[in-house]
Amino acid sequence: MSLSPETTDRDELSPVTVVIFGATGDLTRRKLMPALYNNFRKGRLNHLERVIGFARREWSDDYFIKQAKSGVVEFSGETFSDKTWREFSTFLHYHRGDLDSPEAFESLARYLDEVERGDEARLYYLATMPELYTTICTELHAHGMADEHSAERRIVIEKPFGRDGVSARELDDVVHSAFAEHQVFRIDHYLGKETAQNLLFLRFANTIFEPIWNRRYVENVQITVAETVDVGTRAGYYDSSGVLRDMFQNHLLQLLALTAMEPPASLKADDIRNEKAKVLSAVQLVNPKDAVRAQYREYVDADRVAADSTTPTYAAMKLHVNTWRWHGIPFYLRSGKALCSKTSEIIVRFQAPPGNLFNLDPAEGYTSNTISICIQPREGTHVKYQVKIPDGGGASRSVDMSFDYRRAFPDNPIPDAYERLLLDAINGDASLFARSDGIRASWDIIDPILKRWESTETESLPEEERPLPLTYYDRGSWGPAEADDLLGRAGHRWQLGCLEAGGEEGCIEITD
Ligand code: BG6
Repeated sequence: MSLSPETTDRDELSPVTVVIFGATGDLTRRKLMPALYNNFRKGRLNHLERVIGFARREWSDDYFIKQAKSGVVEFSGETFSDKTWREFSTFLHYHRGDLDSPEAFESLARYLDEVERGDEARLYYLATMPELYTTICTELHAHGMADEHSAERRIVIEKPFGRDGVSARELDDVVHSAFAEHQVFRIDHYLGKETAQNLLFLRFANTIFEPIWNRRYVENVQITVAETVDVGTRAGYYDSSGVLRDMFQNHLLQLLALTAMEPPASLKADDIRNEKAKVLSAVQLVNPKDAVRAQYREYVDADRVAADSTTPTYAAMKLHVNTWRWHGIPFYLRSGKALCSKTSEIIVRFQAPPGNLFNLDPAEGYTSNTISICIQPREGTHVKYQVKIPDGGGASRSVDMSFDYRRAFPDNPIPDAYERLLLDAINGDASLFARSDGIRASWDIIDPILKRWESTETESLPEEERPLPLTYYDRGSWGPAEADDLLGRAGHRWQLGCLEAGGEEGCIEITD
């Protein structure tokens, strides 16, 4: 893991060509171009030789550049400068071709041979529909474009990595028939978020948290990724995926892994990924009744959603992490669309002190210590602890010790996750990318839940093995009551440390 991406010296890193497959799509305009531009502006791409957009549409270089510029202007905000853009745009080129035709790959290979000197590393970025991954890998292999005899070749793949464990393995087989694992970069943009990366720093660069980060002191861990947006224009894709595939298999389980993993031997990619895969392989849903699924009302009215769709837009579950460190401690995860507020946060709630020396009474608002890690949008951390109320007799109250990224680092704005991830992929640093065994382990957690939820024969199962039925929630709520019961049964309740610390009550959309 490169701790601070410094400006790059041309002599230190191999020159590189970036090839974007599906370069006329939204991902390129919204994310990839702004990420490349910002890295260029910060002097981190001095080894970039060219960016080649490859797609089916009849675009010229000029039109590709024009589209890229509109994306950069729109999504990189105040950092846009005409002068830097002019310099950056000289690296952009467009090559037309049908992504499922062997001739197009032949023509791309010829084009690359013409423009390259031969020693450039190449990064292939698949910004296409997942249905094309297989063909693209096969064609790259068939045209000798994946082998590394002259220089490094890397490939970036966007989620979804399969629809379930079986299809994920099939996809892996295809990818591995063309590329070795060290060449493959599976992107999960949550891992590029500064605050997700900071979890390792919080836990392992300090001595005050780690000794209590275990079953002896922690009461429960909660991971909430709540969104106010509904499925919007992505309803067609979403209806065939649902919240488990869209958010849990990747983002939520990656956050869980960073929260629960053991310290890695070093910050090398494989040391970090070994620990993440290890902890994920110890996670399971023990009781089918510990997984709640729900759909927001009016979901089925969206365009391209089946009228009788049972796709969940919300899920909450209680997972067990069967390691020495976490045995018996519940990890509660929830995520949904069309909820009350946008917030992604991790709450580590500690046990109450033994005895009751100070009459700490939950009925009077007492909650035991919590550390809230605010992934977004108010990035930071909050530690809640108890203090004596001055002149208040024996009364005490919780107060908040806060760290707010934007206040602490006004001159270091938080970059978009793609900026960091794209740079790491270009430079061959895989520490923030998912490895094949980690993906398999996360499907092993999600598959049994999906299987029960999507089965039409659950009636024949014994009652204790039947899943909870789909329920419904109002838009703008915090989800179904069943999700509260899930914690209530263990005497726990959902907490929102980051929203509460910001003084937020009720449903508030934070826009900055
Ligand atoms: C994507 C999901 O991976 O993550 C979307 O496909 C979701 O459905 C998005 O909205 C959330 O990302 P973020 O960064 O806004 O929390």
